[in-house]
Amino acid sequence: MTSELVNEVPSAAAQNAVFDPEAWYAGEIERTIITEQELRAKVAELGARVSADYADTADELLLVGVFKGAVMFMADFARALTVPVKMEFMALSSYGSSTTSSGTVRILKDIDSDVTGKHILVVEDIIDSGLTLSWLLKYLEGLRPASVSVVSMLRKPGVQRVDIPVKYVGFDIPNEFVVGYGLDYAERYRELPFIGVLNPEVYQ
Ligand code: IMP
Ligand code: MG
Repeated sequence: MTSELVNEVPSAAAQNAVFDPEAWYAGEIERTIITEQELRAKVAELGARVSADYADTADELLLVGVFKGAVMFMADFARALTVPVKMEFMALSSYGSSTTSSGTVRILKDIDSDVTGKHILVVEDIIDSGLTLSWLLKYLEGLRPASVSVVSMLRKPGVQRVDIPVKYVGFDIPNEFVVGYGLDYAERYRELPFIGVLNPEVYQ
């Protein structure tokens, strides 16, 4: 090995360092509103409810996750179920500013399989205006599935601009911009294991 390569090996201090997201992003996260433990408990609760509701469904339940925000929840939620599932992911782009959505949606990645006659459960990170989800539900219903329901980890009550039936909701949260557990601001903070309110100074 050359000395150059040896120098690229992380130091002992770096190898022993524990990534502490709370410290790393200190100042940028105003406060934690849902802890990692609370998220875990809620995922288990939602998983049990959905498993009970779909226990008698002969065909496998089809989970449809929306990139990128729902990825953490999808991964945890799928493992909290006691019924077999298949998983699909969609990528949507909604035009709007970085902290609000417009409802004009474009499909960047569609589902890969035929969903005719399937029971679909859309797995969402957050329902804010509801415009993206409302569009998605219409699109999925057009594919003639047996049923379409929604599970969302978070919802901001009172700000939905369209009426959407969301059967399973993890937490109703205040109307503030939140990050973590998949949710981003400018692609950052998705890896935080908790939900925090972003300090408005970060985006103002
Ligand atoms: P909606 O169409 O306004 O309901 O929101 C669509 C998408 O915007 C959500 O699926 C999130 O990806 C994103 N979003 C809405 N509110 C927040 C927030 O508070 N933090 C991070 N992303 C959000
Ligand atoms: Mg999303």
